[in-house]
Amino acid sequence: MNIDKVLIIDFGSQVTKLIARRVRELGVYSEILNINHLKNIKKLESVKGIILSGGPASVTQKKYPKISKEIFLKKIPILGICYGLQLISKSFGGKVKNNKKKREFGRALLFEKKKSVLTKNFFDKKITNVWMSHQDAVTNLPKGFNKIASTKNSALTIIENKNLNIYGIQFHPEITHTQNGKTLFYNFLFHICKIKKKWKIGLQKKRLIDLIKKKVKGNKVICALSGGVDSSVSALLINKAIKSNLICIMVDTGLMRKNEFKKTYKIFKKKYKLNVKLINASKLYYSKLKNISDPEKKRKLIGKLFINIFEKEAKKNKKIKFLAQGTLYPDIIESRSTTGKSTKIKSHHNVGGLPKKMRLKLIEPLRDFFKDEVRSLGKSLGLTDKINNRHPFPGPGLAIRILGKVTPDKIRILQDADHIFINELINKKFYNKIWQAYAALLPVKTVGVMGDTRTYEHICLLRAVISEDGMSADYFKFPQWFLDNISNKIINNVPGINRVVYDITSKPPSTIELE
Ligand code: XMP
Repeated sequence: MNIDKVLIIDFGSQVTKLIARRVRELGVYSEILNINHLKNIKKLESVKGIILSGGPASVTQKKYPKISKEIFLKKIPILGICYGLQLISKSFGGKVKNNKKKREFGRALLFEKKKSVLTKNFFDKKITNVWMSHQDAVTNLPKGFNKIASTKNSALTIIENKNLNIYGIQFHPEITHTQNGKTLFYNFLFHICKIKKKWKIGLQKKRLIDLIKKKVKGNKVICALSGGVDSSVSALLINKAIKSNLICIMVDTGLMRKNEFKKTYKIFKKKYKLNVKLINASKLYYSKLKNISDPEKKRKLIGKLFINIFEKEAKKNKKIKFLAQGTLYPDIIESRSTTGKSTKIKSHHNVGGLPKKMRLKLIEPLRDFFKDEVRSLGKSLGLTDKINNRHPFPGPGLAIRILGKVTPDKIRILQDADHIFINELINKKFYNKIWQAYAALLPVKTVGVMGDTRTYEHICLLRAVISEDGMSADYFKFPQWFLDNISNKIINNVPGINRVVYDITSKPPSTIELE
């Protein structure tokens, strides 16, 4: 992208992605580059600042990942975080020691020792709370650097070299537990890198549309439209570029939320005038899934059926040369190996595995963006809030939320329960506070009593989580009255369910879906 940007060099930290998010939240475009790909970078012209991430390596070992001195001396402002700080220190003659006795994990108090542009408005009366995660520590200042702040266990927690525009911090400002972490990024971006241009996803629309036009020329693009945010925004964007040359296929597997698929189809066809074809394959899916309980087998079968249907459609028109996917930036970085080998898209992505055999070229207009950015783009494209703010939904749909064998009867029961749950979340204004919520059916029946009659019915499990990107999550803390109401409502309105439970596990150790 040819706009002012910040390059984040990734040394393998679990939270590098958060650095990119924080920078973009402040209106500056950022890209993550794996340390192993650094050699491939040709020019640093539009790079206005470099951030070195944390990582599992140690500069106290014989071999450790590093960047060339040449990059350090380019006078492009550099901010090293955790491993980044240690690497800066080592590269400029400082000392880094592995000290098990003085390691810091979790919250730590940071004390200001000297004023710095980096820490403007960061401290509250010379003290603040930061989040640490390290065992190695810088013990001797590198040449030309000053000490800015210390904790009890590590004297050199923030250092700077104003002449070279190089800054290092031991804690993690990208993690929300660090008080005012955003202020540090703000100071780095706007006072040190002096970036003026404010980056906004909405302003990217025209550029993205032009890029698609250029790439596709007079050919056709096929797109699997599920009605989820990612595929919907991709489809609207591509439609703006090439109109009816975009062919959207909606495969109704019968495994979607209640009534949602047909409603979404109508919206795309009538409101957005997309060239969209609805294929009803629910009977085929139900019959093939009939005797399968194993979740991985379900996934494979559902994926294979989908590919067959999709392939058949793609073959119908020789002018189809491209396949559109709603791949997002986290899909790309999560699947990039830290050893720098090939990039593979997350295997559970909806249409992963499709293109090779079909020899279609990929179009992934959202591959540079995070989910919240995609939602902003959706908004600027006029996508209705109902779709734009919709919770994520897995490709295999309700099949992995019905544990054990999938039957049309169980699907109907689950769709009804889920519908009640989701509507209640919307009515009671919880929906937009939750990252993802759904109902599932457990594979056991239990005894109940309704009126004077004994029942033997399904258990409905409700799950609602808060998360930033689905990689980790915590369960949503509902008030007691909501849980009371929803349990009653589901049992009173959905024959087939006589017990409702709420899942109170986070991820990890659990996952979001039950499978
Ligand atoms: P887990 O269950 O792994 O899920 O914690 C993390 C997020 O991924 C979604 N998910 C999927 N999304 N195709 C998708 O597009 C899939 O096959 C799939 N499986 C899980 C899940 O709903 C959650 O948001």
